[in-house]
Amino acid sequence: MSKPKILLTRRWPAEVQSYLASRYDVTLNDRDVLPGPEELRAALRSHDAVCPTVTDRLTADILQAGAGKVRIIGNYGVGVSHIDVDACKRLGIVVTNTPDVLTEPTAEIALTLMLMVARGAGAGEREIRSKTWAGWGPMRNLGALVTGRTLGLIGFGRIGQATARMAHHGLGMRVSYFSRRRAAAEVEAQTGASQCASLDELLATSDFISLHCPGGAANRHLIDARRLQQMKKTAFLINTARGEVVDEEALAQALRNGTIAGAGLDVYEQEPRVAAELLTLENVVLLPHLGSATLETRVAMGMRVAKNLDSFFSGEAPPDRVA
Ligand code: 8YV
Repeated sequence: MSKPKILLTRRWPAEVQSYLASRYDVTLNDRDVLPGPEELRAALRSHDAVCPTVTDRLTADILQAGAGKVRIIGNYGVGVSHIDVDACKRLGIVVTNTPDVLTEPTAEIALTLMLMVARGAGAGEREIRSKTWAGWGPMRNLGALVTGRTLGLIGFGRIGQATARMAHHGLGMRVSYFSRRRAAAEVEAQTGASQCASLDELLATSDFISLHCPGGAANRHLIDARRLQQMKKTAFLINTARGEVVDEEALAQALRNGTIAGAGLDVYEQEPRVAAELLTLENVVLLPHLGSATLETRVAMGMRVAKNLDSFFSGEAPPDRVA
C-alpha cells in the first residue's frame, strides 16, 4: 500500500520533518515560502493530509478545492481560527490541533508582557538603544509594581490556568477569571484563581486584563472601545490569544488618550502588519507572536501533529481532534 501523502505548509524542525519523512510521502517547504491561496488549493487537491500554521488562511472556498481528496488538516498550533472548521465538518475533513505542549511557553510570554509594559521595559530599552538615556533619576523611568496586583483573565483554559499559576505563585497576584464554565475546585486551588461573575466586573476591578479565549468570529473585537472604557485608567491589557479579539484601532486610541495605562501584545489583527499608530506609542509592548517560540516547543508541536496523523492513518481516533 502506498504511503499517505502529507504536506507541511512551512518549514518545521528538522527532527520532526525526518520523522514524518520516514513514515509518509511528505511534501516539505524547506525554503519556507508562504503559500498563497492557489498553492493551498493545489495542496488540498493532491494530499491526504495538509498541515498548516496560523499563517495559512483556510477559508471555505479554499477548502472546497480539497473535497473528496484531503482527509485531515493537522494544524501546527493550538488556535484554529484561521481554519473554517464548520466547512471542514461539512466536507468531512478531520481537524486536529496541538494543545498542552505550548501552554507554559505562551503563559511565559503573557507574564513577560505584563512585566515589560508595567515596568516600562520596552520604552526604557528604546531609550538606551537610541542613546537618549540621561541616566538614573529618582523621578525617571517610573513604572507600576506588578507584585500583589489583581490579574483578570478572559478565558480559563490551559494557557489561562498556567498564566494564573505563574502570576499567583510567582508574583503574589490575586487572580480572577471570566469564563462560561467554572473550573474544578482543585484547579482554582492550584492556580489561586476565582471565577468572576461578569465580564463587566472583571474589567472594572483588574489591574491587568489578559486574554486567553479563542479567536474567530465569536470573539472578534470582544475588547472594543466600550470595553476599554470599562477598565481602570491604571490598568494594562495583555493579548497572547488572537489579534482579532481586540479592536486594534480602538486600543491605539485608548492608549493615546490615557483610557488605560498600557498594553502588551503578542498577536495582531492582520499579522504581520501592526496598526501604524501602535508603533508610535511608548505605552505598548509589541512582540512578534512569540507565544510558542522555543525550539523544544516547536519540536513538541510537530510531534503532536505527527501523533495525530499516525493515529488517523492507522484507523484510530486522533487524540487532538477539534472537528
Ligand atoms: C503558534 C499559537 O506558534 O498555537 C497557537 O495557537 O498562537 C502559536 O503560538 C502558531 O499558531 C503556529 O501555528
